[in-house]
Amino acid sequence: MKTAFAGIFLLFIVGLSTLCKGNDDICREAEEQKGFCLKNHNYQEIQAESLRQCYMKCTTESSCHSVNFLTPSKQCQMNLATHRTKPIDFTKCQDSTYIENVSRVKKGSTNWAPGHSCKDIRQSEATVGDGEYWINPSSSGKPIKVYCDMTTDKGGWTLVKRVIFSGGFQPTNGEEIQTTDYRIQLSNYSSNLHLLVTEGLKNLRSDIGFQQFRFYCRKATPGRVFHITTKATSLGEAVVQYFTGNTSVPPQACDSFTALPDDNSTLSGECMKWGHPTKNTWGKNAWGKNAWGENATTPENIKMYKRLVLWKSEKHAVAMGHSDYFCDDLTKDGSDGDTWEFYVR
Ligand SMILES: *[C@@H]1O[C@H](CO)[C@@H](O)[C@H](O)[C@H]1NC(C)=O
Ligand SMILES: *[C@@H]1O[C@H](CO)[C@@H](O)[C@H](O)[C@H]1NC(C)=O
Ligand SMILES: *[C@@H]1O[C@H](CO)[C@@H](O)[C@H](O)[C@H]1NC(C)=O
Ligand SMILES: *[C@@H]1O[C@H](CO)[C@@H](O)[C@H](O)[C@H]1NC(C)=O
Ligand SMILES: *[C@@H]1O[C@H](CO)[C@@H](O)[C@H](O)[C@H]1NC(C)=O
Repeated sequence: MKTAFAGIFLLFIVGLSTLCKGNDDICREAEEQKGFCLKNHNYQEIQAESLRQCYMKCTTESSCHSVNFLTPSKQCQMNLATHRTKPIDFTKCQDSTYIENVSRVKKGSTNWAPGHSCKDIRQSEATVGDGEYWINPSSSGKPIKVYCDMTTDKGGWTLVKRVIFSGGFQPTNGEEIQTTDYRIQLSNYSSNLHLLVTEGLKNLRSDIGFQQFRFYCRKATPGRVFHITTKATSLGEAVVQYFTGNTSVPPQACDSFTALPDDNSTLSGECMKWGHPTKNTWGKNAWGKNAWGENATTPENIKMYKRLVLWKSEKHAVAMGHSDYFCDDLTKDGSDGDTWEFYVR
């Protein structure tokens, strides 16, 4: 990795001699490689007096990401891709000089320019939409393609898990793919079956340093939306600590979260009722199951999915895994399209 990078840098330096006459913007932004070309992504070919003119032409077109300039024939080939988005088509070509505008490549848009997290990409790009981006949470692994919500509540959310019922299908315990490897989880964000256990969530936190959770769910029946974020405060932090396994003390519910505008759940307005202080009584004002005096039916490593919120006497709960899919209800029945999402930021 390091060597490849150094190599590119070297080519960059060597290449400067032909394009850069002075210390102008082009020198800073362009990356030039002599004796190379990008094949198969050429959308237009024009005649140009010089490499510089060819490149300038490219910069006036939004679809032009790089050019090949053939010195003897003065042909200027404009490309839709770059040598890093399509490395397989980047080859040695005699008499050709390849050049691209480096800053035209947005962070997160390719695996060679990954962000650190969706939050990082959100902060470094002026305009970003919801969708897939490349991130690399730690230098010890390869970049992964993840889903980022860049719009809800100012965006920057990395999707950890999404479940959508379809074709009468609901994931069962036996099919569940539990993993401690957040790379597997994040790149399988649309898999109903993958589930990142507590330890993996903790690793993700130590690598991307998220501070908030966001939970969304909606079932056709009862038809309410549960949509909250934990607050970026000490009470919100306690929730993150709890579900990343850093403490076993059930965190306080009230004032630890904010309901988003589309939330119309019963639970979000009844934080005092969450959790049970003693057996069969409700209203501990706490997240999670808090298995008082009972044998814990919620395994520690999946406690967040199995019982995020529980107000059992009135049959309201939120769960998104291990055969339990509740959304402001306490029934296992569901319909196609019922959705759960869990994000970090
Ligand atoms: C390179 O691309 C960036 C982003 O599209 C643009 O702002 C900049 O002007 C371009 N540089 C040149 C020399 O055209
Ligand atoms: C998805 O999960 C499987 C293991 O369950 C893993 O092999 C794979 O790399 C993951 N990522 C993608 C993009 O499939
Ligand atoms: C809650 O919001 C959803 C989505 O906007 C809507 O379909 C549903 O009717 C609402 N339910 C109640 C009880 O307001
Ligand atoms: C986990 O808890 C310990 C002890 O309370 C604390 O020192 C540590 O900083 C916490 N870790 C994180 C990631 O907050
Ligand atoms: C709790 O678990 C132990 C060991 O698995 C078991 O012997 C005991 O019967 C359980 N108690 C209850 C109340 O389920």
